[in-house]
Amino acid sequence: MTRALLHPRIASDAVSAEAEARREFAADVARDLSLRPKRLQPKYLYDALGSQLFEAICELPWYRITRAERRLLTRYAAAMTEPLADLTTMIELGCGSGEKLALLAGGMRRRGRPLRVHLVDISPTALDLSARTLATLPQVSVVTHGASYDVGLRQAAASPLRHGATLALFLGSNIGNFHPTEADAFFRSVRRALRPGDGFLVGADLVKPEPVLLRAYDDPLGVTAAFDKNLLVRINRELGGTFDLADFTHEARWNATELRVEMHLVCRRAQQVAIPVAGLSVAFEAGETIWTESSYKYVPAGIGACGEAAGFDCHEQWIDRDAGFAVTLFRVR
Ligand code: TRP
Repeated sequence: MTRALLHPRIASDAVSAEAEARREFAADVARDLSLRPKRLQPKYLYDALGSQLFEAICELPWYRITRAERRLLTRYAAAMTEPLADLTTMIELGCGSGEKLALLAGGMRRRGRPLRVHLVDISPTALDLSARTLATLPQVSVVTHGASYDVGLRQAAASPLRHGATLALFLGSNIGNFHPTEADAFFRSVRRALRPGDGFLVGADLVKPEPVLLRAYDDPLGVTAAFDKNLLVRINRELGGTFDLADFTHEARWNATELRVEMHLVCRRAQQVAIPVAGLSVAFEAGETIWTESSYKYVPAGIGACGEAAGFDCHEQWIDRDAGFAVTLFRVR
């Protein structure tokens, strides 16, 4: 009886949430494609197909971030968690597949109490996958937050069951996807959500030679290109767009001044693209680009300085010299 009554309401809530998400997508696309240079927000890369393509990127021989981080977490899980006395909560921002958190939780030594894990991700596919991965660990309970970092972090930090120490995780060099001023603000908002004795573990890709960087973001198999161009597929499907994929090429550029790899979709010939649901007709010149993402590269001391400026102590840093990748543990002062 209850179910018969509840079901239609839940279904209509889901429909209106989807309609709301689509309106927001349309409004963002309308605004960002009117900018100079044209832009699209990277969070829209991660629909069901995009999330799977990103998982594939993580396995590419030229994209070494995931494997380097996996090596560090496997090897130093105990050292990364031990400085936090009575660790009972982990919050992963942008959990992806959940594999890294599983490595860390599995490698914790002397775990007396159950561990509560909060997963925050914008992608339902990623949340599903990681919740399933983590549910297999003994004494681990999982709470998922299908939300942006800010909202999810606030929800997780407000959890009434939060006792003992909390470790927040921001891995996969997602910090590199923020402009430096956004990265500073992000460190501060994480700091505000945490309490003295809590920790923050950050994975960051390091500056390395340009050809190595460009291969990581424009691979010979074309998986990264497919991931990037899927944004246009999504606009065509969800907003009725008329992008001809054959007219756009994925390009990675190293900006040596800003220390970032920039991902662009380059339009090969002049044309007009209609996006009816966003109420838009966009003119492209030949060679004009849509800037979809940036990936800033760090030096180890730079990551430490970011955290310190936000009120953290830089506790320890583990570096994979081979791939040029650093994991840094911060503690709240
Ligand atoms: N956080 C990842 C990174 O900066 C995201 C990423 C990897 C990405 N490859 C990409 C984003 C290609 C856009 C296009 O390394």
